[in-house]
Amino acid sequence: MAIEGLQQAREEFEAVLAAAGSDAARIEEVRVRFAGRRSGLLRDLEDHLKTLPRDEKPAYGKALNELKRLVEERLAAAAEAASKAAAGERLDVTLPGRRPPVGSLHPVTLVRREIEEIFLRMGYSVADGPEVEDDWHNFEALNMPPDHPARDAQDTFYIPGGWLLRTHTSPVQIHTMEGQQPPIRVIIPGRVYRRDSDLRHSPMFHQVEGLVVDEGITFGHLKATLEAFVHVLFDPSLEVRFRPSFFPFTEPSAEVDITCVLCLGKGCGMCSGSGWIEILGSGMVDPRVFRACGVDPARYTGFAFGCGLDRVAVLKYRLPDLRMLFGGDERFLRQLGLGVKA
Ligand code: DAH
Repeated sequence: MAIEGLQQAREEFEAVLAAAGSDAARIEEVRVRFAGRRSGLLRDLEDHLKTLPRDEKPAYGKALNELKRLVEERLAAAAEAASKAAAGERLDVTLPGRRPPVGSLHPVTLVRREIEEIFLRMGYSVADGPEVEDDWHNFEALNMPPDHPARDAQDTFYIPGGWLLRTHTSPVQIHTMEGQQPPIRVIIPGRVYRRDSDLRHSPMFHQVEGLVVDEGITFGHLKATLEAFVHVLFDPSLEVRFRPSFFPFTEPSAEVDITCVLCLGKGCGMCSGSGWIEILGSGMVDPRVFRACGVDPARYTGFAFGCGLDRVAVLKYRLPDLRMLFGGDERFLRQLGLGVKA
């Protein structure tokens, strides 16, 4: 057998080793067949070397040594791979399970749920309405006729066909009164849209609207309700201030301020140095709004309010920038560490 015989032996070895895969028993069979001490093929080849003429011995011997080294290395590698594979297959039932990553609720969702809970406890129900509105519900029925200057402040997104994206949750007051006679006690959380976007504004934001209609509802009910709400939502020690204001759909109207939760009234960047933070708009439902919805203003009175949820979230979680709420950065939510609330 000449050198070609070694080449043939090598090819055969590689083929059978590959066929054995990571089966330890078959790898052992390959080892015995090729490298077995007593009857392995390498052993036969060594015997053959001794029979060769002198001048052929050096080249053959060198090639045989190379083949031996290759066989040893390949067998060792295959054996190691087989034992690793076997270890991987073993099931350790005592290992702790892998926990799937648990998400958290968005701060605005948490604030919405908290506000819903507060009002549900006071006997309100929760309603919602369409985000795509008509002019009647978003403006006209709320005492904002086509030429009303208050429309300018709303920066409306108009949609072809006479539709628009609601600029506030107040149109759901109209839907509610159109569909139901008093007594009414609802809150309406939802998304609203305005064409402005800067440091303090996002084109989509969240409000919660409230509406109470019954016989004998007074401004005293409004004050007590909103004071209780703000105290439960933030802190009972905060001062609440009702400041006269104007909204087309309420008369009289008031904006509600609370002591700045960051500086507790001392004055800081958040409250522009005033020590107060505006948190709600409110008022007694204007009789014209009642009439637009078929509710008799001679019999019923009511109050309404609107509150920006995102602002509440910024204050409650002390966020430096409102836009963090809508940036979609998962790290922000993780860092807040707000647990999942069932
Ligand atoms: N709709 C008002 C806004 O978006 C907020 C508001 C003010 C709602 C007074 C009310 C209210 O129901 O009575 O700015």
